[in-house]
This record gives sequence, C-alpha cells and structure tokens, in this order.
Amino acid sequence: MITKCLFPAAGYGTRFLPATKAMPKEMLPILTKPLIQYGVEEAYEAGCDIMAIITGRGKRAITDHFDISYELEHQIQGSPKENLLDEIRVLMDKCTFTYTRQNEMKGLGDAIYKGKVLVGDEQPFGVILADDLCVNADGDGVMSQMIKIYSKYRCSIVAIMEVPLDQVHKYGIISGKEIEDGIYMIEDMVEKPDKAPSNLAIIGRYILTPDIFKIIENTKSGKNGELQITDALLQQAKHGMVLGYKFKGKRFDCGSLDGFVEATNYFYDNLSTKG
Ligand code: G1P
Repeated sequence: MITKCLFPAAGYGTRFLPATKAMPKEMLPILTKPLIQYGVEEAYEAGCDIMAIITGRGKRAITDHFDISYELEHQIQGSPKENLLDEIRVLMDKCTFTYTRQNEMKGLGDAIYKGKVLVGDEQPFGVILADDLCVNADGDGVMSQMIKIYSKYRCSIVAIMEVPLDQVHKYGIISGKEIEDGIYMIEDMVEKPDKAPSNLAIIGRYILTPDIFKIIENTKSGKNGELQITDALLQQAKHGMVLGYKFKGKRFDCGSLDGFVEATNYFYDNLSTKG
C-alpha cells in the first residue's frame, strides 16, 4: 500500500565541515554503513521498494552508493570481503532508486515538493530524514510502525518524541489530544518555536497523503524564510486529520556531533560487526 519513500538529502551538513566539504552528510558512516543506507533499510523493511532521493550539487556519492561498482566488485569477487556487500546488494536488487535535485535550499517543505515528480500524487508515501537514525531492537522499525498506524487511520502521520523544554527550539513541536496510547490528534504544530505548546517534538519520519502537495503550493515561507513542511501539515490538520505518533525505539540525532558519537557507540556495542 505504501511502497514509496522519499529521502530529502540536499542539505549541506555544515555542522560536519570539513568532512562534508566534498562528501554528502548522508554518506557519513556509522561503523561501516552510511546514514542513508540505514534509512533505506528501514523503508525496505517497512515494505517500500521505491526509494526517491532528493539530492543536490555535490551529492553524486549517494547515487554511486546504490549502484554497481564494477571494478571493486571484480577485485573482491570470491574473497571473504564480498560478504561486506551483502546488505547493499539486497537493496540494489529489490529496490528502485530514483533521484531529482533540489537546486536551491528553500526548506524541507520545498524539498518534499520536489519529490512529487518521483512519488506521484496518487498514493501516500513515507519520508525519512537520514540524519535522524532510528532503531528499535525490540521489533518493527519506526517506518513499519507508522505504516501500521496509517492502515488504521489513513491520514498523514509524524513521528514524535518527548524532548527537554530547553531543546524545543530545534524541532517542529506538536500539541493535540491523545486518542490512543501514544497517538495524538494534532491541533497545533509550530516549527522551531521560542515558546512551545508542548515538549512533543517531530523527528524525521513522516507519512504524507498526496494532497500535501497542493497544500505546500499554498504555503508561504515560514521559520528562517524557508518553506516548512510543519506549516503545510498544520493546514492539513486543520482541514482534516494529522496524527503524531510516539514511536517505539531509539532515535539518534546524527546531524549533531553528540548524536553521531552516541549512535556510533550504540551500534558498536549492540549490533557491531567488530572482530
Ligand atoms: C526538520 C523539521 C523539524 C523536525 C526535524 C527533525 O528540521 O523541519 O520540524 O523536528 O527535522 O529532525 P531540521 O532538523 O532539518 O532543521
């Protein structure tokens, strides 16, 4: 039912300079896997097989990563090292990767709008921000959890988590009525507020119904002069229904140094390929 997932990946990643000077931030590795591969694996696990990636200038490494590297593969053919490519080969074999570019950084709402040409405007689709790395050691990944909720409510859904009040200025914040354990019907949402309506922060997982594209067309620039998906979703909530879902699992903010190191340690300690 939801088979397409959008990956906005056009940002500069300035917090990781100079590492991101010539390399996309989505290619920064946690252990041996780039961030974007974790995101694609989560989408694939959730039943998506069309991965629609919004890139920008200097992001060719992402396209190459999900393609065959003939010379390398020829070199390691038959050696034990070949196993290291097993996971990426499954993704390449089972999924279709499509790309378009966002030429100017005009905000997440604009990046998602650029994805219309890839995901179409007939079916709902997932959105994963790869620098929010999510794991759920006890069961389904976050996108799978959200797709289950979608099949019951059939509306746009954002993943949320509680954050300390002094952190709300970094996130889109929602408030609403809890209609089921951990599921909120959104009444208000605001991008990176100074004064927040709650401490429920949006993290980089969305399911969007395709009418969002029309709404984005009618949404004006918001916080920081950028077209914010949060503003478009508020309109959708006002005229219909949008849910906030407190996901199960852990989320690492790999767009920050602290989160990146925390994720690296977590994966090294728990799921590591060490030894
Ligand atoms: C984006 C969204 C914000 C959300 C955040 C999650 O912000 O605009 O609503 O809370 O992702 O990571 P960004 O971190 O790209 O500035």
